[in-house]
Amino acid sequence: MPTYQITGAIPLCGQVPIGGAKNAALPILAASVLCADQSRLHCCPNISDVSNALKILKSLGCKVQLREDCVVVDTYPANRCEIAPNLMATMRAAVIFLGALLARFGEARITQPGGCPLGERPIDLHLLGLRHMGYRCEYEGNVLCCKEEALRGCTIALPFPSVGATENILLAALRCDQEIVLCNAAREPEIADLICYLKKCGAQISGANTSVLRIRGGRRLHGATHTVMPDRMEAATYLCAAAITRGSVELLSAQPRHLTAVLESLKKAGCCVRVSEDRIWLSCKHLHSCGSIRTAPYDAFPTDAQAPMMAAMATGEGSTVFEENIFSDRFRHVPALRSFGADIYAADRYAVVKGVGRLHAANVAATDLRGGAAMVLAALNAEGTSSISNIAHIQRGYESFVQKLSSLGAQIKITE
Ligand code: UD1
Repeated sequence: MPTYQITGAIPLCGQVPIGGAKNAALPILAASVLCADQSRLHCCPNISDVSNALKILKSLGCKVQLREDCVVVDTYPANRCEIAPNLMATMRAAVIFLGALLARFGEARITQPGGCPLGERPIDLHLLGLRHMGYRCEYEGNVLCCKEEALRGCTIALPFPSVGATENILLAALRCDQEIVLCNAAREPEIADLICYLKKCGAQISGANTSVLRIRGGRRLHGATHTVMPDRMEAATYLCAAAITRGSVELLSAQPRHLTAVLESLKKAGCCVRVSEDRIWLSCKHLHSCGSIRTAPYDAFPTDAQAPMMAAMATGEGSTVFEENIFSDRFRHVPALRSFGADIYAADRYAVVKGVGRLHAANVAATDLRGGAAMVLAALNAEGTSSISNIAHIQRGYESFVQKLSSLGAQIKITE
């Protein structure tokens, strides 16, 4: 089994380019289905989640080409509206193909999506929206069968601004020729990037970056060329890596305005941060507690940055309280961080982290994507050589992780 071997206690220094955002690329690849045309995506990250999205596209009959600097998808030949369970199980974002298939064909059949084990991840809000606009959604065994019945303009109010539900409802609404208004929509920047792509394809959508989206569909879309936005979670991970190793790192092609909450917390923790339009520079000599971290929907502190930040705070001076408000089981990395010597008490949605300065080496297994990244960060701080197994979780979301960390001076390699 491939394992990361990391010898820590080396400050990371240098520049690192931030790639395209996983959570923007995946819904955009799904959305390309409803254009029935060729689209070119630049900065599509080379990660296993994207490879799996391309496999889903191929299974639907689409043509996919990987060029040096872009992914070219031709969705015109798509002729299936069903996704096999083994492909659905590869990732959470597979569920976004539901909205895209409905918009294109008026029907879709999918099974339970996979993804990180973060607690219950129901899709009731997705179905609430789809049913409201006139799709019939029923389970036949473990297969979710959705079909257009009588689409109508309507107002849908989400009880919670779910990212996935917003994306699915947005896509499925594009089949309806009357206006659909989505209230309390998620405002994560990846949704604005999806809308940006759809508008290039000819879709009529207003309200990007706000919690009220107005969608008027029913018209034929065409393909488009789009550059995927930079990955704010990859950026947050490298910022925490610089902090935990007391290093100095400059992120290239990053979007500081998407990272306000993370940057504020790192500044509170004693890091020196400078930003320009598309770069972030962070230097850390002494790290202390940032007080508290409370995850919540954008633009609050993102749940995906909670684990890397926890690793960093485990090495700073003083105590930090983490409150996880998005997922019910997102402290799975805590036992592994304790193996590195971290002092963490976790119960329910709270974790209290007492900084210990230097961690020690450990052999651990990644539990999920961001939790796994937090373990890599802990190993980068630790004295000695650590090993991290189950790295498939990490490879789902970090492009060229080993190469990028090595270029910053980290001693990291993959062993079989
Ligand atoms: C997306 C991101 C993930 C990020 C999360 C929150 C992708 C591929 N994944 O996940 O990285 O951590 O947003 O920013 O973009 N919920 C329900 N019913 C629903 C839908 C969601 O109860 O129908 C609950 C979930 O169980 C969870 C919370 O709402 O507790 C947030 O989920 P959601 O915003 O939908 O996240 P995802 O789209 O799964």
